[in-house]
Amino acid sequence: MSTGRRIAVYGAYGHTGRFVVAELLRRGWTPVASGRDADALAALSQAFPGLATHVATIDDPAALDRALAGTRALIHCAGPFLDTGAPLLDAALRARIHYLDVAAEQRATDATHARDAELRAAGLVAMPSIAFYGGLADLLATALLDEGETRVDAIDVAVALDRWHPTAGTRLTGERNHYRRWVIADGERRYVADPAPTRRWAFAAPIGEVDVVALPLAETITISRHLACAELHSWMNLAPLVDLRDPATPAPQATDADGRSDQQFIVEVEVRANGRRRRARASGRDIYAVSAPLAVEAMERILDGRARGHGALAPGQAFDAREMLGALAACGIASALEH
Ligand SMILES: NC(=O)c1ccc[n+]([C@@H]2O[C@H](COP(=O)([O-])OP(=O)(O)OC[C@H]3O[C@@H](n4cnc5c(N)ncnc54)[C@H](OP(=O)(O)O)[C@@H]3O)[C@@H](O)[C@H]2O)c1
Repeated sequence: MSTGRRIAVYGAYGHTGRFVVAELLRRGWTPVASGRDADALAALSQAFPGLATHVATIDDPAALDRALAGTRALIHCAGPFLDTGAPLLDAALRARIHYLDVAAEQRATDATHARDAELRAAGLVAMPSIAFYGGLADLLATALLDEGETRVDAIDVAVALDRWHPTAGTRLTGERNHYRRWVIADGERRYVADPAPTRRWAFAAPIGEVDVVALPLAETITISRHLACAELHSWMNLAPLVDLRDPATPAPQATDADGRSDQQFIVEVEVRANGRRRRARASGRDIYAVSAPLAVEAMERILDGRARGHGALAPGQAFDAREMLGALAACGIASALEH
């Protein structure tokens, strides 16, 4: 395995991939950009002069092997991960490097977790969904736990976005992910009710109390990977879903020099156990942009030995969640815990 600072990014010219490339450079790593479109990779290396690039399609193992050669980890940003996850994880295993992705799809994350034994045997870590959806709520839930606590009664995750201008990749992933979503109910994985249940959620200002609808994404998988709970449900306010369902909603527009949009988010996690109610909150700007520091921070922690063990790991399982959230404050993710 290489000991250098080269990190492979697949899907590097996508919206999220570009944020990951920029975050790696900002932290002094050497991204090696890969994807299936030679012209898009050439355009990316214009934007990031000196960037190494490799054209590779997901069905060409030899090309993927060349793209990953000499790197220490892969951050995979090209979704739908239901299609791209397995071939890239296979390539990471062949290259004997750690694998991270930003999948929001429950079944893609679950499929990566199912490769745990193989990863452990290889002494590698795979961390799917280390991103806004999947990773952030898992860190928040874990940060609320007492030392050694792995069993709680109920967890609710609530996301509020002031808007959601989706990328092409988000739209494509939503269409591809036609499966019914899982929640945890009565201690078991069950399909979310149809029609999706609604309730009220009192978010912090400036959102306040609003209607939310059940929208379980990858956090159902990441959280339940290491926490036993009888009930685990996820919710979202309605405004972003109206945006998402409207084909006329534009893609995200950059409004700062880093390419971030104005989109504001709040993620709140409530954990209930033994009659005690605890709440954690994270807030910030642009759900695509903040996925980059989440993934790169995790990658650094895996490479410098701060991850607990090997295998297919959820972020809260691998890391000191409070400490990691503290570190992410410098990257635009503000968080607060109410124990
Ligand atoms: N969990 C989260 O919070 C989170 C956050 C951000 C993104 N995501 C996920 O990340 C994915 C990308 O999102 P994005 O916003 O970056 O979208 P995007 O800007 O549209 O980029 C999508 C990227 O994926 C590549 N791609 C798609 N299918 C591919 C395939 N079969 N083979 C090779 N490359 C393929 C695209 O390449 P081409 O241009 O060549 O098609 C492009 O590079 C989506 O699945 C999205 O749900 C999740």
